[in-house]
Amino acid sequence: ASLDLLAAPVPVAHRVQDRAHPPVPRAPQVFANEPDSDPAAPGNRAWARAVLGRAESSRLGIDTLAASRVTDVGQVGERVRQAAAAGADWASTPGSRRADYLDRAGEVLAAFRSRFIEVMVAETGKTLAEADVEVSEAVDFAHYYADRARELAGIRGAVFRPVPLTVVTPPWNFPVSIPAGGVLAALAAGSAVLLKPAPQAGRCGAVLAEALWEAGIPREVLGLVDTGEGDAGRALITAPEVGRVLLTGSIETAALFASWRPDLPLLAETSGKNSIIVTPSADLDLAVADIVKSAFGNAGQKCSAASLAILVGSVGTSERFRRQLADAVASLAVGPPIDPATQIGPLVEPASGKLARGLTQLGDGESWLVKPRSLDATDRLWTPGVRDGVLPGSDFHRTEFFGPVLGLMTATTLAEAIALQNATDYGLTAGIHSLDVHEVADWLDAVQAGNLYVNRPITGAIVRRQPFGGWKRSSVGAGAKAGGPNTLLVLGEWVPEPGEP
Ligand code: ALA
Repeated sequence: ASLDLLAAPVPVAHRVQDRAHPPVPRAPQVFANEPDSDPAAPGNRAWARAVLGRAESSRLGIDTLAASRVTDVGQVGERVRQAAAAGADWASTPGSRRADYLDRAGEVLAAFRSRFIEVMVAETGKTLAEADVEVSEAVDFAHYYADRARELAGIRGAVFRPVPLTVVTPPWNFPVSIPAGGVLAALAAGSAVLLKPAPQAGRCGAVLAEALWEAGIPREVLGLVDTGEGDAGRALITAPEVGRVLLTGSIETAALFASWRPDLPLLAETSGKNSIIVTPSADLDLAVADIVKSAFGNAGQKCSAASLAILVGSVGTSERFRRQLADAVASLAVGPPIDPATQIGPLVEPASGKLARGLTQLGDGESWLVKPRSLDATDRLWTPGVRDGVLPGSDFHRTEFFGPVLGLMTATTLAEAIALQNATDYGLTAGIHSLDVHEVADWLDAVQAGNLYVNRPITGAIVRRQPFGGWKRSSVGAGAKAGGPNTLLVLGEWVPEPGEP
């Protein structure tokens, strides 16, 4: 069945559907990143308390998620075929028109800020501040990719042909911004999308879909499918109509997807084992603050998080540096996310497996500078920890633990520190704190990671300014970075313009 997406009114069964009222093009605007809200600002405190109060008993997204449950393999096949058919029509919608939809999506996403924060806090235990920046990033993706879609539409001599259908499988730790990035990129490129939210954050995915439907994106073009973990999930990923799978998740999940279908067109951002080098030239006060933010934001549950600080020369023997770091870490407020004072909320699930090991067991030569403690019987609320004396090649040097624990390593020279930084299978983020331009230049030449940060935290990439993506085992497929100029290009191919030789 063909869809007339933008023309005549059609009967609709859903709550919000305004195909009859296509978005009015915005006046041309220079892209600017959406500002975050400062929950501590006097004018925002009442708002923050109200949002957190609602999170405690939030039911947002529950009904939408229930309605999107598809556990029957045959039904999955049907949803896939419908979406791929809608994709053909979406692709033939002029790129500039799709861009108008994305700009309106950006406005609706911004208007949904409180709802997104409420459901993220409720479902994943994020703090308000961590949830807030995700909304800004989602809004940025919409307007940024709208601009990229206009650019693609303006190129003469070739036509960009998107894949008809993209499946987006986001992680639970960025349950709004990462699915928004994947979905909006695919929509901008002209592909239909099926969004399969992470099992731990299904309601966040549902509220995101509600926002985009409210912006006028047809439900046939953006579908929400909660397939769970069984055969239905596999049927979705491996359906032949699926032209791209955008995964953000663990290396194990990427390997599982690939094992299901060897020729799977998978683009994945996966794990990281990231570190920050601190040289004797650094501003040590700033380094401490940035290490703490990078290591313990979202309780360390970020692929981009700093898991190691590599201390060069005199920094490695500095008692003052260790004391400052220990004091800063020990004074972080750990508690429930609905308390506005909380800086580190609960883990998404009780610490088990390698994270439990990382929080409790020391390796050879290691000692606790700050020992983590479990604060309640659920084993979800942990005080952050710092282990000193991590040795080259050890378990903690090379393994991603994904939680609130940081290790310290020492190196005699910057070259040695860079070798330690590169000696992992991953290459997602990396940082250096140095006020010496020659050191920074040497580091930039040698470091192997997708996102490099100088004298700044190594989490919190900002759309356009820091396109996000990894190297080595942190990335699978010929991926382009999220929030960068080439993102849309990996979602289709160029074909000659009709009539061209
Ligand atoms: N884009 C996220 C960050 O930069 C993962 O922290």
